[in-house]
This record gives sequence, structure tokens and C-alpha cells, in this order.
Amino acid sequence: MNNTIAVIGLSWGDEGKGKFVDYLAQKADIVVRYNGGNNAGHTIVANGVKYKFKLMPSGAPLEKEGVIANGCVVDPKVLLEEIENLKKLNKNIYLKLSSTAHVIFPFHRILDGLEEESKGNYAAGTTKRGIGPTYSDKAARWGLRVFDLINPEILKPKLEKLFKIKKELINIYDPSWSVNLDTIYEEYKNYGEQLKPYVIDSAYYLNKALDAGKNILFEAAQGSLLGIDHGYYPYGTSSNANALGISAGTGIPPKKINKIIGIVKAYTSRVGEGKFPTELFNDNADKIREQGHEYGTVTGRPRRVGWLDLFNIKYGIMINGVDKVIITLLDALEGINPIKICTTYELNGKKLESWPIQSEIIENCVPIYKTFEGWEAKSRDEWLNIAKKGYDALPEPMRIYIQSIKELLNTDIAMVSIGPDRRETIVLEDINF
Ligand code: GDP
Ligand code: IMO
Ligand code: MG
Repeated sequence: MNNTIAVIGLSWGDEGKGKFVDYLAQKADIVVRYNGGNNAGHTIVANGVKYKFKLMPSGAPLEKEGVIANGCVVDPKVLLEEIENLKKLNKNIYLKLSSTAHVIFPFHRILDGLEEESKGNYAAGTTKRGIGPTYSDKAARWGLRVFDLINPEILKPKLEKLFKIKKELINIYDPSWSVNLDTIYEEYKNYGEQLKPYVIDSAYYLNKALDAGKNILFEAAQGSLLGIDHGYYPYGTSSNANALGISAGTGIPPKKINKIIGIVKAYTSRVGEGKFPTELFNDNADKIREQGHEYGTVTGRPRRVGWLDLFNIKYGIMINGVDKVIITLLDALEGINPIKICTTYELNGKKLESWPIQSEIIENCVPIYKTFEGWEAKSRDEWLNIAKKGYDALPEPMRIYIQSIKELLNTDIAMVSIGPDRRETIVLEDINF
């Protein structure tokens, strides 16, 4: 028996993965991040404390062992800051870092910005954290890995080579750009020394842990629609931000991944560029943005918001093999009436059978909606009280909304969430390892 659960976002990220990784981590031994880097921002509210993690697996508030696996890209400075922040909160840190995760350097961040500018309409509106350029170097096979970082004699010649190439590239965009290679080397050598105690062969470690009967929870970053292979290309990120990325990103065989939990926000949000068929621009948009605090965790950008798009989420249910869904941020729709759900798209007057994946086609599609009655606004205390009482205490229109999502997606709803706090959670079906 393999004891594994994966938490995946089924939309454009920020679905509330952090909250539910923390929730499910209560029964886990190890929490594993397997894709992305510090483009992610995962928020957890527990025991009156708010945690915002970019790289640290979200089991950290519960002092669970965390593994940053090979599929991630790591900005060492950001990781060290997160370690420091947890120490300040008197948290014990049980962190392991894969020796084969790739390392983000300052020139990656700079190239991220320059490449975006030159892409014009094809720019994804990246977080400018160097994610794309680092994954590009990984694919081109001249990227540097954590193993290189912690071995200065290997780091130096590899960094010299990469720096030379990157400098030439940056100078095409910006001829005046120049930084001192020795400064970068010294800085990164120092990061390597600090991170060395955490470094392991994560594939071997995780497989051994599974063999020993440990419960492993996989934490996706970003969302299925942002995935490089099956997302909304080119307006997404550079990793497989879905369940398909788990095996490649950890070294755990596909047949050992048991349960896939898809997180669905009660509406849709998106940071960055690209067509968003159900996007709202009216007062409802402002209301949802304020009530859901829809401002990027990493960049602070106001998130674009719109009605729930179940047509593209269905695609995510298919490619991820989702077993159960968790619906989040239902409270954030309070006071909005009516509420809509997109069930399909029309193209040239014809209903489509499946989400059309190509951005050029999606741009010409018209979303088709079902309309639902909304529910009234409540105070935080009232939502918390409702959560304590359970499902039947939810406003009736909300229960109808939840049941309709269940029917339209043809999937089980395991939990619903009516607030950021761990306690503002209603369990319909237990999720066990
Ligand atoms: P992630 O990237 O998927 O982990 O999501 P983020 O943390 O970036 O964004 C989700 C935001 O919604 C965070 O601020 C959470 O604290 C918050 N949140 C999660 N679930 C709920 C909920 O049910 N209601 C409300 N109001 N906020 C929630
Ligand atoms: P979490 O894990 C929302 C978006 C960016 C941009 C595109 C590419 O918190 O859900 P990148 O910096 O990855 O090259 O940017 O992807 N993006 C996210 N949007 N949540 C995230 O992470 C995101 N990570 C990247 O806004 O459109
Ligand atoms: Mg986020």
C-alpha cells in the first residue's frame, strides 16, 4: 500500500492549495513540493498566525517534514529567508532539498523581465522571479543544480560558463548590463554552505519513506491551466503544475500516486496575461476581489476575477485524474446576486465538446452560463460558527451551488471552505491516506 495524496489547483493558481495542504498535512508525515519555485505564494492561517510560503512546503506550520524535490527551481536567497522567518516563529524546521533541483541566479530574473518585454502580446505577465529562464536552462542542459551550488569547485567553472552565455544574451537586450561574476560566485557559494545540511537525493529518500509506510502529501504550485504541456500556452508557467508533474518532479513512480485532490475556487481568478473568458469588469469584480482579498501573494498585483469556469476545470479533472474536489472561498461570493457558472463555450454558434486548449481558439469562444441565486453577507464570526455547525448550516443557495458543481463536474466534493482559517472548513467526506 502506498500512502500518497496530491493537492492540485484546477484553475490559474491561488485556489487555496496552501490552506488544504496544511489541513491534510495533519495526517501526513512528509509534504513535498515538486514543481515551480518562488512564483508560488501559498497562504495558511492557523492558530491566529498567517504564513505565506513561496518555496517552503506548506506542512511547515505543523512542523512536518518538507521536501523540495527535483522538479522545483530554487532561489536560495528566498529559501534561506523562509527558513529564517520560521525560526523567528520558533518553528522546528525539518526540511530536505533535492540535490537535482535547479538553481535560480540573478541573470535568470533579469532575463525573465527582458524576454517578457520582447514578447509583446505573447507575454504571460510572469512573476519575474526567473522561473522561465531557469527551466529553459534545465531543458538546454546547462543549468546549475543544487549539487553544483553546494560544491564550490564545481560551481565555479559551471557558473563562469553559464554567466558568459547569459551576459551575451542580456547584452543583446541591454548593452549596458554588467555585473561582477565574482560577486555572484561568492554570494552563491555562501548560500550553498548554508543550504548544504538540507541537501539529499530526494528520489531515493522519498521512495524509501514510502516503502517504510510514511504518508506523503504532494503540494502542487500554480494551477492546471498554467501547466506547460496541458495548460493555456504560452500564457502559463514553465512546469507541469498538475498531477502529471509529480512523478517527473519527485522520482516517485506514477503507479504509486493514490489520491488526487483538485482544489476549485468558487469563482475564477487569474494573475498575468491571456484571455480569461469568464472575466468580470463590473462592480461584481471589485466586490469579489475585495471579499476574496484577491491580490497576488508574490507580486501584490490585483488578481483578475470572473465567474467559475467549469468547462476548463473539467479538462483539469480529466488530465489530473481527480478523485475528489475541495471548493474554496465560497464566503467571498457573499452578497452577490445572481451568481453564474460557465458550463461550456460556444464557437461560431456551436457548443464545444471539450475545452479547446489553443489560446487562438479560446479567444474567439463565448462562455455559456447557468445562473444561480446568491447568499447574504455574514461576519467572520458567523462564518466560523457555520463551519462549526457543519454542512446543513450553510445558506441554502450555497448548498445548491455546491451540489450543482458536484453534478456538473460529476465528481465527489470532499470539503468546502468558507474562510481562510483552518477551522473554517466543512468536511463532507474524509480524505485519508
Ligand atoms: P494557493 O496559491 O492556491 O495556495 O492560494 P493563495 O494562498 O495564493 O490564495 C488563496 C487565498 O485565499 C489565501 O489568502 C488564503 O488564506 C485564502 N483562503 C483560502 N480558502 C479560503 C476561503 O474559503 N475563504 C476565504 N475568504 N479565504 C480563503
Ligand atoms: P500559486 O502556487 C497564480 C502566473 C504568472 C504568469 C504565469 C507565468 O500561488 O498558485 P512565471 O513567473 O511562473 O513564469 O509566470 O504564471 N503564475 C501564477 N499565478 N498563482 C501562482 O502560483 C502563479 N505562479 C505563476 O502570473 O501569468
Ligand atoms: Mg498563490
